[in-house]
Amino acid sequence: MNTLLNINTDYVETISTPLVFQSQPKKKVNYKIPLNKPYLPNFSKYTKYLANMYDNVWLTNNGPLLKELTVRMEEYLGVKNLLLNSSGTMALQIAYKTLNLTGNVVTTPYSFIATSNSLDWLGLKLNFADVDGQSFNLCPKNAQQAINKKTSAIVPVHVYGNPCDVNALEKIAKQHKLKLVYDAAHAFNVKVAGQSIMSFGDASILSFHATKVFHCIEGGAVVFKHKDDFEKASHMINFGINTSTGNIDNSGINGKMSEAHAAMGLVMLDDLDKILKRRLEHYCLYKTLLGDKVIYPNWHPDATQNAAYFPIIFESEKQCSRVFQHLEKNGIQSRRYFSPSLNEIEHLSRPSRTACPASQSLARRTLCLPLFVELSFKDINRVCAAVNAAMVLW
Ligand SMILES: Cc1ncc(COP(=O)(O)O)c(C=O)c1O
Repeated sequence: MNTLLNINTDYVETISTPLVFQSQPKKKVNYKIPLNKPYLPNFSKYTKYLANMYDNVWLTNNGPLLKELTVRMEEYLGVKNLLLNSSGTMALQIAYKTLNLTGNVVTTPYSFIATSNSLDWLGLKLNFADVDGQSFNLCPKNAQQAINKKTSAIVPVHVYGNPCDVNALEKIAKQHKLKLVYDAAHAFNVKVAGQSIMSFGDASILSFHATKVFHCIEGGAVVFKHKDDFEKASHMINFGINTSTGNIDNSGINGKMSEAHAAMGLVMLDDLDKILKRRLEHYCLYKTLLGDKVIYPNWHPDATQNAAYFPIIFESEKQCSRVFQHLEKNGIQSRRYFSPSLNEIEHLSRPSRTACPASQSLARRTLCLPLFVELSFKDINRVCAAVNAAMVLW
């Protein structure tokens, strides 16, 4: 258990009136401290892999670099049936298609838009169930209440890498014979009671976008519980072609990962321990400097931390906006991540909007602070000084 992260917050704001999302300033700013900066591993190591790709004249279609990354990634994460593909969004869609999701899906309103839009894209109806106000994750009780005759699956998200209540959700999915697909885009390398977060549910997905803890520039992965689902999905990302028989067994798409993307993943893997250590140091320094002046998500008590994000919560939207503006004035980028609450987005909430007061409240009061490997301790001190200075004003 990480005692540093097990902080209790009893505060949940209730919303009685409909709220209008206030968008962030659209102007382009050159920040002295950006929110994120992709990690760039040693260039000559990367080009060595690319030289290999040139020598092989094998650029995509299940090439040797992709196979090597699959083996090393399964080993690193301690999982089986891992399918690399072109993005986290593609990984979600492949998981939904492979598991034959139909009708409606119970999901969380507190996430990046990709979780919901990928369901909407496939013509599935979203049934938002509110989050737990302290963990930011889909509340199992609310998820259970949202299930109806047309529900085929539950799609929770391990927001900021913080694991959901996986045991409760699994029990509900079993009881109602529903598929369980976890969006673990933020949760690379996280473990619950010593077990990879990717081993829960019928499928679990990762994003390897450039801004993530581990990246392939663009890319993603699905981990399936069952081998036959893995095999079906591996044909699906190759236009539906079964490479063993040459038959076209399924509907399919081009969701493959190229050799150039796999090469980046292989170089990143070499640096991963260093990356994770550095991110955790940043995380701890933030916690030390901000202490209990702000609120933090309540972390799963048996989970490890990958320091993918540094979210802080304020008691009101007004305070949150003031800190955001003060940071901006000082050349520091922060982000109201994730805002708005997805149940407030027009095309996702038809025909009628479901109220999700905890998610809506969190979306208005949460800011993510800069967190990336190259950030210096001096930068973190500057960010925290600016947050503290803004808070002194109220
Ligand atoms: C929760 C979540 N799910 C899915 C995705 C989509 O991943 P990708 O950008 O690799 O398509 C993201 C991207 O940031 C995300 O934050």
